[in-house]
Amino acid sequence: MNYFRKIVPPIKCQGIKTKLVPWISAIIPEDFDGTWIEPFMGSGVVAFNIRPKKAILADTNPHLISFYRSLSEGIINAGLVRDFLQDEGEKLLKSDGEYYYTVRDRFNSEGNSLDFLFLNRSCFNGMIRFNRKGGFNVPFCRKPNRFAPALITKITNQVQAISDAMSIGEYEFHIQPFSDTIKYANENDIIYCDPPYIGRHVEYFNGWDEHEELKLEDALSSQNCRFILSTWHHNDFRRNSFIDSLWSKYHILTREHFYHVGGKEKNRNPMIEALVTDFEASFNKNVKPIPEQLQFFTSEA
Ligand SMILES: C[S@@+](CC[C@H](N)C(=O)[O-])C[C@H]1O[C@@H](n2cnc3c(N)ncnc32)[C@H](O)[C@@H]1O
Repeated sequence: MNYFRKIVPPIKCQGIKTKLVPWISAIIPEDFDGTWIEPFMGSGVVAFNIRPKKAILADTNPHLISFYRSLSEGIINAGLVRDFLQDEGEKLLKSDGEYYYTVRDRFNSEGNSLDFLFLNRSCFNGMIRFNRKGGFNVPFCRKPNRFAPALITKITNQVQAISDAMSIGEYEFHIQPFSDTIKYANENDIIYCDPPYIGRHVEYFNGWDEHEELKLEDALSSQNCRFILSTWHHNDFRRNSFIDSLWSKYHILTREHFYHVGGKEKNRNPMIEALVTDFEASFNKNVKPIPEQLQFFTSEA
């Protein structure tokens, strides 16, 4: 498995692991030849960059899965995305931004994947947030000219890159809770879990509490393949207590990752990220590029 040109997904989501992909890639055992299973797919950035031959990607958020499923089935493609964003972007501009709310209402009654992409790329802070009834409720980013030609080209290329990546592998998509996805695992597979971080995101498709974390550990410990779990280790103020209570019996790697809150340097919150594995990770030399950051990785027994 190699690490090629970086793929940036067209859909953004909270907790996206773009910056952690080289690290995750580097610890995938060289003998891995099974299915890559992601019960918490989110944007899919990890799977699409790892590029396994076979992948099962799942999430409880139906809109993320429907988007990628439609792409894999050819119901949407890069050309359709470009035309759609050109037409709708023009209406957005002419309405001085008001049209965003027409699309949002339409999406909340019909759940169309192209509307989801439109909202995801023009809403405030690129957030995916739903109210208690499951309605998308993020306001507009206030840039009526949001879909300028350069951005449309960028998104179209991102969609094409995902289509290309999917065309050389077998990808399955499922809308379901993690416990159902973990059950698919066979001996040669790897399960990569990236659940919502406890206490950080709480909303309709993204609730997570102690009960869920315990259930996840139970499900992972009951299957017979290898797993990698992303979680947070500590920040300047707190330590993740589950590292010591629940995950300490596994292998734990740590490194620093900055989460941006707003655009200002002073608002950056350094967060020490952890990867928990049920195998001893050795850094795979076949992964290109071998990240220079490896020298900063430390291992906790
Ligand atoms: C931190 S995000 C994953 C980010 C992803 N790794 C990426 O890089 O884009 C967590 C995801 O878990 C999903 N999720 C939350 N609760 C879930 C559950 N019980 N079962 C499956 N997915 C869940 C959310 O919808 C969200 O997309």
